[in-house]
Amino acid sequence: MNTLPEPALPSSPTAPRRRVRIDEDSGTVLLRTARSAYVFRVDRAAGTVRHVHWGAPVPLADAVALPLWSENDNSFAGPWDGTEEYPVDGGARFGAPALEVRFADGSSPVEPRVQDVVLLGDDHVAVHLRDRTRPLAWQLHYRVPSDGDVVERWTEIAHTGTPEDGDVLLSRYACAHWPLPQRPDWRLSAVHGEWSAEGRLQRSGLPFGETTLGSRRGHTGHHASPWIALDPRDTGEEHGEVWVVALASSGSWRISAQRTAAGRTGVLVGEGHEGAELNLRPGGRHRTPVSPALYSSDGFGGASRSFHRHLRAHVLPHAQELRPVLYNSWEATWFEVSEENQIALARRAAAVGAELFVLDDGWFRGREDDRAGLGDWTPHPERFPRGLRPLSDEVHRLGMAFGLWVEPEMVNADSDLYRAHPDWVLHLPDRTTTELRHQMVLDFSRSEVTDWALGRLRRLVTENAVDFLKWDFNRSFTEAGRHAGGPDARRVHIEHARGLYRVLDQLRAEFPRLRIEACAGGGGRVDVGILHRTDQVWTSDNTDAVDRLRIQHGFSQLYPARVMSAWVTDSPNPLTGRVVPLRFRFHSAMAGVLGLGGDLTRWTDAELAEAAELVRTYKEIRPVIQRGEQFRLLSPEDGLLTAVQYVEDDRTVVLIWRPSTAYGPPQPPLRLRGLEPGARYRDEDTGREWSGATLMAFGLPLPELPPGDCASALVRLRRVVSAARPEPAA
Ligand code: DGJ
Repeated sequence: MNTLPEPALPSSPTAPRRRVRIDEDSGTVLLRTARSAYVFRVDRAAGTVRHVHWGAPVPLADAVALPLWSENDNSFAGPWDGTEEYPVDGGARFGAPALEVRFADGSSPVEPRVQDVVLLGDDHVAVHLRDRTRPLAWQLHYRVPSDGDVVERWTEIAHTGTPEDGDVLLSRYACAHWPLPQRPDWRLSAVHGEWSAEGRLQRSGLPFGETTLGSRRGHTGHHASPWIALDPRDTGEEHGEVWVVALASSGSWRISAQRTAAGRTGVLVGEGHEGAELNLRPGGRHRTPVSPALYSSDGFGGASRSFHRHLRAHVLPHAQELRPVLYNSWEATWFEVSEENQIALARRAAAVGAELFVLDDGWFRGREDDRAGLGDWTPHPERFPRGLRPLSDEVHRLGMAFGLWVEPEMVNADSDLYRAHPDWVLHLPDRTTTELRHQMVLDFSRSEVTDWALGRLRRLVTENAVDFLKWDFNRSFTEAGRHAGGPDARRVHIEHARGLYRVLDQLRAEFPRLRIEACAGGGGRVDVGILHRTDQVWTSDNTDAVDRLRIQHGFSQLYPARVMSAWVTDSPNPLTGRVVPLRFRFHSAMAGVLGLGGDLTRWTDAELAEAAELVRTYKEIRPVIQRGEQFRLLSPEDGLLTAVQYVEDDRTVVLIWRPSTAYGPPQPPLRLRGLEPGARYRDEDTGREWSGATLMAFGLPLPELPPGDCASALVRLRRVVSAARPEPAA
């Protein structure tokens, strides 16, 4: 079952060799990333794989000699709890396991034995284990992608028996357990939220016991994101140690931080939630998704930049490609789309500089509102009597790419598709099928359903010369079981996403120039798995430029600006009613992949002219925003000002926002980051020059912000004298 994100791409030829070192005598394995080390020891006699170290680099000579940690020896202790690389349910182990099974005779305990340690390249090692007597084997995979700080882990679990052994039910099948070093205390960072309020960063002390985040919704969720960060409570934005653990998967998931009273802390990460079991037949295998994780000694900001680099280098398709400025018609026309109004919007969008025009919901048969039509992906006969091609052609003639909204995993009861295939939706025989937003979920774990979806999408893309799909998903799972029942009827919670991946992968293979935006009612499906096969994500349905600062702050903890789609919409904002000046709206959206989403036919000439100028500015700074390193200078929680800086080569861009003013205090200079101390930087708008050292130590004197609420500024600096060249004597 190899449909999940592949581990990172093959190493580049220039990368240092042998990122995996093995000391055969001690059984010690050392993984070296650019700035960290991960060490474990294979104890063949005890049949365990014990964690030794994860943190700052250590040489192999020391790694082999580092002692293993053990709990106090008493008859209530789990001596290895918190220290195993992949704890199973069995023996004297009392923490939550990574692997928990039920054999055909109803028994559960697993007794691991180490079979082998296999080097699969300079950057990849696998530890093979099996049960002492039962037909179960599992392989722990570790891979160290080139040039970064990330270690990737995943696990393959196999039923090695014959039909006489019966099936093996997996009730826990984590990708990994990530043990952390011993520290006196721990703090957990994660994001929480809801529809239109995603990405709210929370930091709190880690209690003893098990703290679990997850989704039981069949998709990643708005309410949490599959990553957590842990720090020893003294870490700041730019200093201190952080461990980040993430999951590359888009279905239901679970991440638990466990802290034992004996002083060990670790993170279990995997697909599926409590009760979402998998049945393995004899000969069957299950490969978990990848869990990428990293250690950084450069604070939360350093950890984010490191993860962004990993995503750009190894996960995003076409990461070097700059994302175009798009126009999306949703907030302009809602469901009331027509060839005429879309062409009017497209002309305005092209005039202000949009490069991609996206026709949103409402374009297909039966779709007057959200009550009907999903599943019937042919153009609405009254709204597009000539089909979509004339609009697509006009958009192309205007010099833009053509994008189309689809929601292929959903169906309305009022649709020909549902009338023909009522059994294709998630449902159970004697349960009421819940409709949310009047729609039901098509079961993408079934190949006849994904074949149908692929066929429809193939036709849509070909017939309408579609360059870009906005792929939406607007409800969570209910009645998610298998009609035929069976012990693992809830496996659809993970297999739906695998079906989705198959469709996306196939579509991308057939249409290599097609680009895709992932959306789930905004940010309901943002994760490393979906980012491996889409080009950007719709961050939130909340387009209020002030609210967005918080949402974007949370988003940036793991995900880079290069994938964060953000539109400038109308004022007052349709969701919040807030009135925000155009410039602030632009500056807020410029922090990611800029788009426009307002009703441009109602914008004044002056607004359109200002928008065109701001789009031009964005295009000019776009490489720095989309490819640069991001420094969160001031967070939305820090006070009146929020500021983000991006650095790419000799250029740096700073965005500053003051959503509201109070008492009118003078603002201190803004200390920049990531510059060369000895170089000089010129402000491209004012011509003022400063040394990198001054900008980082004293700070950038703030440009004058307009008075009142919702003031913002953009500063562009370019290095004019490199640090390599001495400054002329005074
Ligand atoms: C939810 C998306 O997030 C919106 O942008 C829009 O596409 C609507 N769905 C359309 O139904």
